Amino acid sequence: MTETNRKLLDFIDASPTAWHACANLAKRLQSDGYQELFETDRWSLCPGGKYFARRNGTSLIAFRIPKDDYYGFLMMAAHDDSPSFKLRGKPESPSAGYYTRLSVERYGSMLCAPWLDRPLSVAGRVTVREGGKITVKLINIQRDLLLIPNLAIHMDRTANDGKKYDIKADMLPLFGSENAAGRLEAIVAEAAGVKPEDVISTDLYLYPRTPGVVFGADEEFIAAPRLDDLQCAFGCTEGFLASGEGKNVPVLCIFDNEEVGSTTKQGANSDFLVDALWRICEATGHDFYSTAAASFMVSADNAHAVHPNHPEYADSQDRPRMNGGIVIKHHANQKYTTDAVTEAVFAEICRKAGVPVQHYSNRADLRGGTTLGNISTAHVSVDSVDIGLPQLAMHSCYETAGSEDTAHLIRAAKTYFECEFHRTPEGIEL
Ligand code: CO
Repeated sequence: MTETNRKLLDFIDASPTAWHACANLAKRLQSDGYQELFETDRWSLCPGGKYFARRNGTSLIAFRIPKDDYYGFLMMAAHDDSPSFKLRGKPESPSAGYYTRLSVERYGSMLCAPWLDRPLSVAGRVTVREGGKITVKLINIQRDLLLIPNLAIHMDRTANDGKKYDIKADMLPLFGSENAAGRLEAIVAEAAGVKPEDVISTDLYLYPRTPGVVFGADEEFIAAPRLDDLQCAFGCTEGFLASGEGKNVPVLCIFDNEEVGSTTKQGANSDFLVDALWRICEATGHDFYSTAAASFMVSADNAHAVHPNHPEYADSQDRPRMNGGIVIKHHANQKYTTDAVTEAVFAEICRKAGVPVQHYSNRADLRGGTTLGNISTAHVSVDSVDIGLPQLAMHSCYETAGSEDTAHLIRAAKTYFECEFHRTPEGIEL
C-alpha cells in the first residue's frame, strides 16, 4: 500500500463522524504550525501567518496570509459528513421479550443494505457537566458493539427481488439481551471519562467497524467507509499543506451537513465562509468586493465512476474510470457550477501538475446529487468549478475508489493553491 493510501485509511479510521474528522484535520494543521482563531474574538492577522477557525467543531476554514500583498482568495471546499444513523435521545428499545435494540433515525440518504450484518459501533459528541460548566467531549466506542441482522431468506423469499427498507423496523441495531437495557448510558459515560449522571445530552451516530483495504489484482482500488467525502477532505488538506506561497490567500474549507442540504449554521449554506473572508479582508486592509471578484473556488466532492456491472447508468460519453484522474463535473442547469472558463482554469492547473482529468455529466434522463459549489457561491459569488474523485457505491457504508486518485488530488490541490491566478481584463494568468 502506498504511504498516501495508508495515511488516508488511518484518517478515515480515526474519523467515524464529522466531529472526529474536523478534530483530526485541526490537529494536522496545528502540527504544521497553524494557529486556531475563534469566532468569538477579533482576528488580528500577520503577513506570513497560518490560521484556521472551526464552527460547531464540525466545519473548518484554514488559510495563510502571504508575506506580500495578494490578489484574491483561492478556495477549495470538501465535506466531512457522511450518511449514517443517529441515535435517538432514549435509544434503548426492547424487542420480542428478549432483545435490546437501539432506536435510530436516518442522517442523509444512504444505501441501507450494506449496513446489515456487519459489526457497528457508536461515535459522536456528548455534553457533560464538569466544574460548573457545560463541556463537549468527543467519544468513539472502539469495540464491536452492534449489528443490524438481516431476515433469513427462508422467512422472506422475496428478499432478492428488490427490498424496501422501513427505517423504524428494519434498521434498528441489536445491542444485547434484555440485560443490556440501561447499559448504553454507562458505556457512553465511560468513553467520555465521566460519571453517567454528568452526561447531559448527546449527538451520537452509528459507524461501520470494517477497516479500509486496498484490493484488486494490481491493488488498483481502495475500499473504506466515508470515502465520500473524506477522500477529498484529506486530499485537499494535504495539497493545501504542501503548497508554497503564491500571490493569493489559499483557503481550505471543510463543511459539515452536505448530506442534509448544507442549510445549518456550519454548513456550506451558512455565513461561515463569507464571515471568514470579510474578517481576512478587514485584518489585511483589503476591499472585500474587489478581492472576492479576484477569487476562485474549487468544490471537491466525489463523483460516480462507470459501474462494472451497470455501465448503462453512466452517460454515453462522459464515463469516468477509477485511477483515470480528477473528474470535472458538468450540469447544464448548474447544479454543478463548472462553466467553460472555470473548466479551463482547473484543467490548466491539472495539466501543470501532470494530473489527468476526465469529465462527468449525469445520464441526461437521471437527476444527480447536489454538492457544495453552487451553495457556497450563493454566499460568495465567485467563479467556481465542481470536481471529485471517481468512486463506486456512493452512500454505501463501504465505498470503492481508485488507489491512485488521492495522490492525483493532492498534486492538483498543491499546484492550485500556489498558482499565480491573476485575473485581468485581458485574461487569467496562472
Ligand atoms: Co459528497
